[in-house]
Amino acid sequence: MSPSSLLAAALLAVSSVRLAYAATAQVFAPPSRNPLVQTANYTSFSNHTLNDKKVVKGKVFNRIIQVWLENTDFETAASTPIFEALAEQGILLTNYNSLTHPSEPNYVAAIGGDFFGMHDDNMYHIPSNITTVVDLLEDKDISWATYQENMAADAFYGFTFSAPNYASPDSAPYPYYVRKHNPLIIYDAISQDADRAKRIRTFNDFANDVVNGTLPQWLFVTPNMVNDAHDTTIDFAASFLQYWFLPLLTDPRVNGEDTLILLTFDENETATIQNRVWTLALGTAIPLKLRGTADDTLYTHYSSLSTVQANWGLKSLGRQDTNASVSNVFSFVAEKTGYKNVKLPAMDVPHFNNSAVVPGALTSAQFVPFAAPNLKAHGAGQGGVLTRPGLNEKLTVDKLPKPVNQLALNRTTPWQMSPETTSGKSIIPCQDATCA
Ligand SMILES: *[C@@H]1O[C@H](CO)[C@@H](O)[C@H](O)[C@H]1NC(C)=O
Ligand SMILES: *[C@@H]1O[C@H](CO)[C@@H](O)[C@H](O)[C@H]1NC(C)=O
Ligand SMILES: *[C@@H]1O[C@H](CO)[C@@H](O)[C@H](O)[C@H]1NC(C)=O
Ligand SMILES: *[C@@H]1O[C@H](CO)[C@@H](O)[C@H](O)[C@H]1NC(C)=O
Ligand SMILES: *[C@@H]1O[C@H](CO)[C@@H](O)[C@H](O)[C@H]1NC(C)=O
Ligand SMILES: *[C@@H]1O[C@H](CO)[C@@H](O)[C@H](O)[C@H]1NC(C)=O
Ligand SMILES: *[C@@H]1O[C@H](CO)[C@@H](O)[C@H](O)[C@H]1NC(C)=O
Ligand SMILES: *[C@@H]1O[C@H](CO)[C@@H](O)[C@H](O)[C@H]1NC(C)=O
Repeated sequence: MSPSSLLAAALLAVSSVRLAYAATAQVFAPPSRNPLVQTANYTSFSNHTLNDKKVVKGKVFNRIIQVWLENTDFETAASTPIFEALAEQGILLTNYNSLTHPSEPNYVAAIGGDFFGMHDDNMYHIPSNITTVVDLLEDKDISWATYQENMAADAFYGFTFSAPNYASPDSAPYPYYVRKHNPLIIYDAISQDADRAKRIRTFNDFANDVVNGTLPQWLFVTPNMVNDAHDTTIDFAASFLQYWFLPLLTDPRVNGEDTLILLTFDENETATIQNRVWTLALGTAIPLKLRGTADDTLYTHYSSLSTVQANWGLKSLGRQDTNASVSNVFSFVAEKTGYKNVKLPAMDVPHFNNSAVVPGALTSAQFVPFAAPNLKAHGAGQGGVLTRPGLNEKLTVDKLPKPVNQLALNRTTPWQMSPETTSGKSIIPCQDATCA
């Protein structure tokens, strides 16, 4: 073939691959007729178990709603119409970074202030002496819940959950729910406490809680594996936002007075570059003059912890939430609460795309026990470090033993479980090949 016909053949090959992909690509279908109407497509209906009517006032916002989408590079989201339009309503955080790859450690870190060396998406649990934002919130009587789309039932403990494929009923059941995107279930301090576990809720509960006026003050929302762009595309996620997110923005029961909404992504898609993710702060708490602006302060997923601490004057976890270089408070909150953000010289900005294995309790290759938090740390809320029962305060980072390669001993970290484990009651450490 001549060079030009080679090129033509190559282009044809590329375009037919695209066509084949387009033909099999998933098309968004709404799981219900309205985000506030419960649906059988979500498997189980609400138990109406919350009664959160009390509002603890914050300095800048009274409610924070985090919505996490998946695996998308900054520019990809930034050039998608719905995201562009949303940016007009809020503050685009143009230097907000995810912490590592892959997904699960980012979710775990966003509520616990560390990912404890985790560098995969395996099935783990974290002992009950380890604190999370939930402890900080309850310490000040602030209500909270997570809403997980297509989770089988409240506090469902399984690794994944497949439900009938509502978009394509003739297809096999679809694994819409994954535990790795549900950080609250991973911490025993939450999932093994019956009162707290009922706050790990389904999207049918979300509909119920909005309609019933019992939506809590701190929310962590995880759309299912197609709606969050994980198994699909940014355009698919955009359709989901149009169906689910946009109507809620104009609903005073959700985006009521002084509400902060954080729309973000767990991680950047391309691992070899800085892990910047498109993140928008919007909601009624955003001052009018700041809507449609950008903020290039260095933030990370730890910033959502420090911002919440600054807003409600909470204690801290004494982990990376108190590491000033990676936990700047969102500027508009820092200004009103008197917190001083740090500005790192460019050469000192960490590479958050570094997926090298670091020692921790949640890695088998370089296992060390969980260390106590730094009890002398100062967080953005100025309230000291909160601890939980069962903590060995003396086991500080500097007292940890040398890392052990558990894999060489034919076992995993004791905090890894078999994906077959379905109940928090019988925790089976993972000792075989299925755990790798
Ligand atoms: C389930 O989703 C499908 C696809 O969007 C929709 O046609 C159907 O009405 C939904 N069922 C219910 C009960 O909402
Ligand atoms: C994240 O990845 C995308 C696409 O590869 C890239 O354009 C973007 O600049 C990345 N973020 C940073 C901060 O490099
Ligand atoms: C409601 O409670 C029952 C009994 O505890 C439980 O079996 C069911 O899964 C719960 N439903 C939801 C949506 O959590
Ligand atoms: C509100 O919750 C109560 C139970 O607490 C339940 O009986 C009622 O059906 C709920 N209302 C709505 C509109 O879901
Ligand atoms: C992380 O991103 C930086 C900056 O783009 C790059 O120099 C580095 O090689 C990346 N690291 C990894 C492990 O990919
Ligand atoms: C704070 O974060 C930086 C950047 O990730 C890191 O190098 C440093 O070790 C951290 N400090 C502590 C005390 O963990
Ligand atoms: C936390 O609890 C676990 C389980 O009881 C225990 O193995 C570990 O030593 C404790 N760690 C600290 C720092 O207290
Ligand atoms: C680990 O398992 C392999 C294969 O079963 C065996 O050859 C090896 O001796 C075991 N190592 C240890 C430390 O038990």
